[in-house]
Amino acid sequence: MTTTPPRVAPLDLSAEEFRRLGHRLVDDLAAHLSGIRTARVTTGARPAELRALLGGDRPLPALGMPADRLLADATRLVLEQSLYIGHPMFQGYVVGSPAPLGALGDLLASIIDPNVGGYVLAPIATEIERQSVRWIAELLGYDPDCGGLLVSGGNMANFVGFLAGRRAVLGPDFRKDGVAGAGRVAVYCTDETHTWIDKAADLFGHGADTVRKVPLDAHYRMDVAALRRMLREDRAAGLRPIMVIGNAGTVSTGAIDPLLEIAAVAREEGLWFHVDGAYGGFAAALPEATADHRALALADSIAIDPHKWLYAPIECGCALVRTPRHLLDTFSYRPPYYHIDEEDDVPPIFYFEYGLQNSRGFRALKVWLQLQQAGRAGYEAMIREDCRLARVLSEACAAHPDIETLAGGLSITTFRWAPTALRTGRPDDEARLNAFNTRLVERLQAEGRLFVSNAVVGGKYALRSCIVNFRTTEADVRAIPGLVAECAARLEGAQALTTGR
Ligand SMILES: Cc1ncc(COP(=O)(O)O)c(C=O)c1O
Repeated sequence: MTTTPPRVAPLDLSAEEFRRLGHRLVDDLAAHLSGIRTARVTTGARPAELRALLGGDRPLPALGMPADRLLADATRLVLEQSLYIGHPMFQGYVVGSPAPLGALGDLLASIIDPNVGGYVLAPIATEIERQSVRWIAELLGYDPDCGGLLVSGGNMANFVGFLAGRRAVLGPDFRKDGVAGAGRVAVYCTDETHTWIDKAADLFGHGADTVRKVPLDAHYRMDVAALRRMLREDRAAGLRPIMVIGNAGTVSTGAIDPLLEIAAVAREEGLWFHVDGAYGGFAAALPEATADHRALALADSIAIDPHKWLYAPIECGCALVRTPRHLLDTFSYRPPYYHIDEEDDVPPIFYFEYGLQNSRGFRALKVWLQLQQAGRAGYEAMIREDCRLARVLSEACAAHPDIETLAGGLSITTFRWAPTALRTGRPDDEARLNAFNTRLVERLQAEGRLFVSNAVVGGKYALRSCIVNFRTTEADVRAIPGLVAECAARLEGAQALTTGR
């Protein structure tokens, strides 16, 4: 009898080697986490420098290299050259500080690698996703028996709500006839709505002009009287309103639309009511949340992002739809090459029927672990503290003579460098302030001690801090006005800004 030698594949690792490499990686990451507070948030490196570090446009290596060296080099490269989302002074955009347990969950998920498109490929992972979605709904006061699934992020979660709503309102023939048979549809939201809506209207075939932008009130919230007026006029002009979108926390200023009133309009007008809670949705779980904020639970569909305020490592968004049937009506195809056993008392879930993706990763594991690690009370405490720190920051900025605070809500604070002599409102002064603050954001980001992003608030270019970060402390935010002032002083032109008029 001949014995065949074991197969040796260039990608395999022996158990012993995997253990050795894995332990070293975890040790390096633990050291990174213990020193993160004293590190720079980012390096400020330019693309050309980073490309050079990677050897420019060198060709793919013809022969393989040892895993040990590759992983050690990659660890050093990534640790040295990254922006640290988990740094306490990272307050840019809306990206949650990643929970370490969630990251370990991602490793576990990757090794087992269930394909959560279908129950047969991912039995326990499917049930963990179902339970995670139920817990997310429960946090928001939404029916845990709703339909829902995890997706890559806020854009995709909003797309799922948009597509489910469109199909629900336009009826079953829409899937056959497509947009050609739908007439001139219209969807309603404000200009403060994230750009996902423009992408959705464009990419899903209606055209960006389908998006009707409702005017804002003085607090950057939807003016509901204007919404009613637009609906009347648009119907008279032959448009077919199908959906209204409210924000539970806008991306620029954290504003919460009057969701109670919008829900009433949607009901009266037979419109689908979608809420973008990608950023602010989880703050509706706080007992002190306003009635408008909690009214996101009246929505037909909600987008909400665990990779924002559940502090899950990227990627993870979540789409919830009140009636599960609407997801199947929108996304389900049953090809002959998938067998779905429906004889069981508890039929298995095949998530490919509920959303855009076919093959799907085990995103749920990190979310499921973190939800249990912190519990409802832990999440409430972390989100409440993020919001309190934003208020402390706003007060600290207002107390600085050269900083002007602008709109803010939830955990967002917007402010700008504006010496009082320049706060005249005159167009030339505003233009100078806008130009200066544009450079100030760039310079702060490059220096790497504080990372804020920008917002344009009522035409004013502002620095924007968004705290979705369980490492940020009160001392950190109290230091911000001083850091901004130092950076402003260093900026070429600071002198000219204050005295050279
Ligand atoms: C309110 C809101 N909606 C949607 C998005 C898009 O989310 P993502 O970047 O995860 O696709 C964001 C991102 O910040 C957001 O703040």
